[in-house]
Amino acid sequence: MADVDRLMREVHSKSKIALKIIRDYIHITPLDVSTTFSKITGCKVYLKYENLQKTGSFKVRGALFKTHNLYNEGVKGIVTASAGNHAQGVAFASRVFGLRSIIVMPVTTPISKIEATIGYGAEVLLHGNIFDEAESLALSIATERNYAYIHPFNDIDVIAGQATIAWELLEQMENIDVVVVPIGGGGLASGIISVLKVIKPGIKIIGVEPSVAPKMKKSIEMNKIVQTDVKPSLADGLIVKKVGEITFKIISNNIDEIVTVDEDEIAYSMYLLLERAKTLVEGAGASTVAALLSGKIRDIKNKNVVAIISGGNADLTSIYRVIIRGLLKHGRMVKIYGYVPDMPGILSRVTEVIAKHRCNIVDIKHERFHEKIPPLHTYIEVLLEIPSREAVNNVVNDLRKNGLEFYINA
Ligand SMILES: Cc1ncc(COP(=O)(O)O)c(C=O)c1O
Repeated sequence: MADVDRLMREVHSKSKIALKIIRDYIHITPLDVSTTFSKITGCKVYLKYENLQKTGSFKVRGALFKTHNLYNEGVKGIVTASAGNHAQGVAFASRVFGLRSIIVMPVTTPISKIEATIGYGAEVLLHGNIFDEAESLALSIATERNYAYIHPFNDIDVIAGQATIAWELLEQMENIDVVVVPIGGGGLASGIISVLKVIKPGIKIIGVEPSVAPKMKKSIEMNKIVQTDVKPSLADGLIVKKVGEITFKIISNNIDEIVTVDEDEIAYSMYLLLERAKTLVEGAGASTVAALLSGKIRDIKNKNVVAIISGGNADLTSIYRVIIRGLLKHGRMVKIYGYVPDMPGILSRVTEVIAKHRCNIVDIKHERFHEKIPPLHTYIEVLLEIPSREAVNNVVNDLRKNGLEFYINA
């Protein structure tokens, strides 16, 4: 416990210094109440928009403070391994302080993230299929070239940099009851805890992990750091197999609760944040809203709850899928399907009925050769953008009146 107190005190005092140092290079991101999410959840939801931060995520805070300190120590250059926001933060921070940076990224990293990192002036090396392989190359480069390696979360300075969000929150709002924070390796949560639990211990801190990577939750349950099997997630920033020693100590001794969210919940929150809050959020950033919407966080009715929207660097291909899923879930897009006689003109009869009811065809599938399709029939599946549920019911009823047996995909 004494060790935890010492770590937190160190983060706490360094975070005050970090705040002064990084302020010139970052945005003070908005904190705004969300009427939509407040209505749905029954508490007063405030969103802290770190997706609007420089480089698109909070990661730049820790990277800036750490790089500043390394610069003062006279390091020759910086090296790190990351497939995501840490890479962009370190690349940006190195440019600010005029240091050379090498970022090792797994070969599977999306091209958009590679380009953004190069765009900030870093040298990018692609190596290994997973983070661990990229990290081992980064560590050997650090030794060979005498560069400093920046760990993405298990580092006091990095954590102190992330903690500056908490100081900003305290300046922006007086009566915070609950803060909901995503947990990857735990740097962000450790920083927030080290400020808020000291200044206002009554504030509850709730951590959120994807259900495919509950590494902090599992480690707390086992009372030691355990490595968990992980699967790919929309919240790729939270996919870490093992938390850090520093972050485990701070979080396990202070967090009020950790909830897990599944992929559907994350996708739906990304969709709602786009649609209602008009803001583009990546999966990791949307996980906090997902936790609130899921109803899994206890005792938040009528409370002032801050959800940290930690980043906005979503891959456009995943956004596209999230939007389609959201539109289907919300009933704004609907699939209808049917087995119809394989005769000339049938498809145009179907499309005429659809047009009559002002539904718009987004996609159409027309298939003859499958064992499940009755002989002399064809299978038609149509994805429709619909003005109302009534319109699609009318389409199906009309088609049936025309002898075309269609169904709405539930
Ligand atoms: C957008 C976003 N949110 C949250 C996290 C988790 O941060 P930490 O690893 O400090 O827990 C990450 C980590 O990369 C991230 O990119």
